[in-house]
Amino acid sequence: MQRDTLVFDLIRKELERQRHGIELIASENFTSLQVMQAMGNVMTNKYAEGYPGRRYYAGCEIVDQTEQLAIDRLKQIFKIDYANVQPHSGAQANAAVALAVLQPGDNILGLDLSMGGHLTHGSAVNYSGKLYKPHFYGVVRETGLVDYEMLEAKAREIKPKMIICGASAYSRDWDYERIRKVADEVGALIMADIAHPAGLIAKGLLNDPFEHCHIVTSTTHKTLRGPRGGIIMMRKDFENPFGLKDVKGNIRMMSNLMDMAVFPGIQGGPLEHVIAAKAIAFGEILSVEFTSYANQMVKNAQAFSKALADKDYQIISGGTDNHLVLIDLRNKNISGKKAEQALVLADITANKNMVPFDDKSAFVTSGIRFGVPAITTRGMVETDMQFVVNAIDHVLMNADDATVIATVKQQVNEFMEQFVLYPEMG
Ligand SMILES: Cc1ncc(COP(=O)(O)O)c(C=O)c1O
Repeated sequence: MQRDTLVFDLIRKELERQRHGIELIASENFTSLQVMQAMGNVMTNKYAEGYPGRRYYAGCEIVDQTEQLAIDRLKQIFKIDYANVQPHSGAQANAAVALAVLQPGDNILGLDLSMGGHLTHGSAVNYSGKLYKPHFYGVVRETGLVDYEMLEAKAREIKPKMIICGASAYSRDWDYERIRKVADEVGALIMADIAHPAGLIAKGLLNDPFEHCHIVTSTTHKTLRGPRGGIIMMRKDFENPFGLKDVKGNIRMMSNLMDMAVFPGIQGGPLEHVIAAKAIAFGEILSVEFTSYANQMVKNAQAFSKALADKDYQIISGGTDNHLVLIDLRNKNISGKKAEQALVLADITANKNMVPFDDKSAFVTSGIRFGVPAITTRGMVETDMQFVVNAIDHVLMNADDATVIATVKQQVNEFMEQFVLYPEMG
């Protein structure tokens, strides 16, 4: 077969783009070289429907070992009793949980998408809002913090089968203990979606959701710095407190229900090459280097947030406990859409985002979300945040001035030369 230079040239260009720019998309990161290498391996050729030791295909002895390694390492990271490493993505993980514990038409309660929640937490355009009856809580207008009183009131009113906590654009920690109290009162299960802060939770830098939430899901490619994928976890089997049944009407352990919901519920063959990469990433997370990385993410986010605040940017909730900040740009007279477009011209990538109580649409938005996982992986420390924020401010204050933006782009490209990315790739 002839080498497809067209596609490989594009891959090379993407590498150069990643090298030259400042990556501030809060949900992105740079995997290690070995994680990436593992994703392009012969395990992509293998069918392995089922789970280690109980597959529907022959020849799974080796992939059984990588998958078991991934499971065991993930259990060790979060000190949990159950892990499923097969979901192809975070959205798949959430869909599997819903399939396992909900019936069509059941009430669910999640954080509103426009207040920082995720599509899979009940949005009308997502399966979660179509198959189930979604209800939402929000954040307090004055503080930007999760409105736990609203969550409790809604839970008492609608008696959801499942309460979903976790978010895509929320910079503060969660009070899982408080949510558990009302969940117990109304008979709801809790699913914590820790897709964003998982890497910080892994290192004990944020509250532990496993103590209070029945089921925890995550992506593996954000702060966990692994390959693109999803995971489902539980600390205890939680003995199926609600008597949930499988399709044959049998009450099963929660772990059985979860496994069956992933396969055969919503997926076919697992991506065993990606699972191999997950196993490597989980091994990296167990290292002391990752502890330093997680600590540095928090320090960088705080320095970044302070540098922005010093330039009179309005930070939702006034700061951050995790790896991201959400900015309301209305006092700067620029929309999120325009800010995103101007920044990209200077090789700074971030995404427009609605802010709580936004008066602009999701396509325009009043806000922008910045995260530090990727720049921390590049090797940046607190003192580098001033350069990054100065560059952002320069662009946003001169968003229509092509000359200023070109100058910032050049400064950004030069600045990034010191933070080498994948030197082995030449
Ligand atoms: C909170 C949350 N859950 C789930 C997902 C979905 O993950 P994926 O894009 O891997 O499906 C995301 C992605 O951004 C997220 O932020």
